[in-house]
Order: sequence, then C-alpha cells, then structure tokens
Amino acid sequence: MDRLLIRGGVPLAGEVRVSGAKNAALPLMCAALLTDRPLRLGNVPHLRDVTTMLRLLSQMGVEVNVDETMCVELCGASLGNPLAPYDLVKTMRASILVLGPLVARHGQARVSLPGGCAIGQRPVDQHLKGLAALGAEIQVEQGYITARASRLRGARIVADLVTVTGTENLMMAACLADGTTVIENAAREPEVVDLARCLTAMGARIRGAGTDVVTVEGVRDLGGASHRIMADRIETGTFLVAAAATGGSVVLRDADPDTLDAVIGKLREAGAEVGVDGRTIRLAMRGRPASVNVRTAPYPAFPTDMQAQFMALDAIATGAGVITETIFENRFMHAQELARLGADIEISGNTAVVRGVPHLQGAAVMATDLRASASLVVAGLVAEGETLVDRIYHLDRGYEAIEEKLARLGARIKRVH
Ligand code: EPU
Repeated sequence: MDRLLIRGGVPLAGEVRVSGAKNAALPLMCAALLTDRPLRLGNVPHLRDVTTMLRLLSQMGVEVNVDETMCVELCGASLGNPLAPYDLVKTMRASILVLGPLVARHGQARVSLPGGCAIGQRPVDQHLKGLAALGAEIQVEQGYITARASRLRGARIVADLVTVTGTENLMMAACLADGTTVIENAAREPEVVDLARCLTAMGARIRGAGTDVVTVEGVRDLGGASHRIMADRIETGTFLVAAAATGGSVVLRDADPDTLDAVIGKLREAGAEVGVDGRTIRLAMRGRPASVNVRTAPYPAFPTDMQAQFMALDAIATGAGVITETIFENRFMHAQELARLGADIEISGNTAVVRGVPHLQGAAVMATDLRASASLVVAGLVAEGETLVDRIYHLDRGYEAIEEKLARLGARIKRVH
C-alpha cells in the first residue's frame, strides 16, 4: 500500500495548475446516460473516483474513449445493463448519480444502497423521495434500490435538507420527464451549476441552477455536447491552505476564484495576502497564521470539504479557533491523527476547539477519508521531521498527482511503496 513521506518545514513557493473538479466530473459523466449521442468532457481530472465511474458506466454499456489529454468521450447509444453493483457503489458513493439518469432514459435502474461511510451515515432518502415524486416506482430490497417508470412526470419537490448529489440526480432525471419539475431547497453548489450548463448544452431546459429553486422543463430527448469541467475548488483551497500553513507564497493557475469566496475570506482573516486576477489566485503568508473560526454549511457558506484542512491550519496558528461541522456527523477523525503530530484539539459533539501550537512534530499518521488525508498532508508539510501518511488511497480518489504538484512547490514529499 502506498504511503506519503513528508519532510516538513519548507515554505511552499511557485506555481501550479488546478485540475478539473472531481465533484463536477462525477455527475457530468453520468449525464451521458441521458442521451444516445456522444458527450465530450474536457479537463477531466485523473483520479481513482473518475476511473471507478468510467468502469461503472462502461459496465452498463456506455462506450468510453479517453485521449491522452484526459478528454473523455462517452456514448450511451447502446445501454445494456442498468445495474450499479455493490462492489463499485461501496467504493464510491457518487455511483448513486446513475440512478436518476437511468430511470429517466432507460425506464429502470438497480443501484446498490451505498451504506454508511467514514464521515457519516449519508442516507439517500431525498434522492428516492424526489424520484418517487417524479412518478418512479421505488423498491428497496436486499441492499438494492430498484426504480421503474415508463416516463417520469414533472413534479414539485421540496427537499427536506440541502443535498448536492440529490439535487444533481433529480435535475438530471427531470430533464427527460413529461412536464415541469420544480426542485425547492436545492443545493446551490457550483458543481450543480456546472452540471446544469452541460445539460443545457445537451438541450435541457433548466432555470435557477445556483439558486435554491431549480426549474426543469422536461424534453423528449437530449443530444450530445462538449463541455469543459470547472476547476476543482477544493483542490484549490487545499493548496492555498498548505501555502498559508507553511508561510509560503504560491500562484494557482486555471482556478475558479468566484467559487471560493468563503475559503479566501477565512484565509485573509488568518493573515494571508490573497490576490485574484482572472483565473489566477496568488497567496502569500508571512509568519504564523492567526486562528480562525469556521462553521461548515451548504454553499455559498464554508464547505465541509475544507474543514479538515483548516483544522490543520488552526493547529499551528496563534490563538484558538472553533470549528463547527454541521453537514456530516462524523467528520473529525483527522483530529486524533493531528494530535499525534502534537496538535491540541478538544472535541465536543460537532465542535472542535483547536489551540494553536508553535510547532508540530512529524510522526506516522493514518488517513481515514479523502479530506482528512489532505489535512494530514498539510500538517506534515509544516511539521518538523518526517511524517509518514498511511492509507493514501483515499487521497488518490480526489487529488490529482498531489505529491508531484507539492514537490513542484518545493515540498519534500515522496510516495513510498
Ligand atoms: N443527506 C440525507 N439524505 C439524503 C442526502 C443527503 O440525509 O438523501 C444528508 C447527508 O447525510 C449529509 C447532508 O445531507 O449529512 C449533505 O449531504 P449531501 O447529499 O449534500 O452530500 P453528497 O451529495 O453525498 C457531496 C460531495 C461531498 C461533499 C458533500 C457536501 C460529491 C460526489 N460529493 O456529497 O464531497 O462533502 O456534497 O458538500 O459531490 C468529498 O469530495 O470529499 C466529499 C465527501
């Protein structure tokens, strides 16, 4: 199993290019299930989750072609097997995103229930409730969701809570429904907007993506399209935090700064100088950061996917920061590992109080999920001595060539087998 060996203490300096967004790429690939015409996606990040999704789609009969620039062409002309088996769904919960498109175009789908995961239970009841409102007949038995409909019908759906993949699943399904669908309490995440843009290019009629009311007028068929995937705002944020934590100075190219207001705001509060020019973000940090309080909430508030990285930042900051996680019930597992590096963190329910210390000390630590792994890498870059991060397969799910990019910024980091 691969591990990352980091010798910390080097302020990051230099330039890197931001990759395409994982959480936009995954739903966008599923949109290929809605049409028998080719869908071309550019700026696809080279990640384990992307490979898993391609495997799942090709197993269903989607023709997949990937060129050397990671431009992916998907063609669902001859869909055969509308099944998402347990062994794939359990490794990647985003597999649930095939459900809406499959039932909308294929009339049926069988998708394994995702089950709980390290960061929380993560039920899919809102996806199922919405599809039922659109007229799908849903059964859950033997660990599988079966959904059937001859043609979905437009409906008004009020989500009980804000769900990103839930909104995406229902928006895709509604594109081919008969009549108009209104999704209220929709997620406003930029990845929802990116998906809506691509669906619109395919011929869908969508209004309000990026607001909490999304209206979809169903059409009979969708066509093909070419779409460039948005920049990964969480990868961007992670590199910005790594630069701030090490007292570095970096330039990130091909970013989408508009999607990062909450994160950039908190970095400035921590003392970083952040400049934005078009698609370029520059960050420079002198001395130790000041601690910041962070409360996660749906977009445009502070993203849960950046919470762990900010805990690492607070761990070496001056003063104490309070971190409140409101999205997932078990997303503090990195705290124990950060403590192994010398961080002072006290957790009570969904709140962590992080008292900054002047130095962390390298140690062996274990990654427990994707963003937890990123926080351990950030901490390792700051810590004195060697940090060995184990179980980095989590990291490979969502960060493209992270050790190469960090090495380009001067970090002493290498992958060991
Ligand atoms: N929830 C329900 N019922 C549902 C759906 C969600 O109770 O039917 C709850 C969840 O358990 C959670 C909250 O609602 O407590 C929000 O979950 P959401 O559905 O928004 O999460 P998701 O769509 O499964 C996506 C990202 C996550 C990111 C969250 C929150 C993708 C593929 N995944 O997950 O990304 O943390 O939104 O922003 O888009 C990551 O990249 O590391 C990651 C976990």
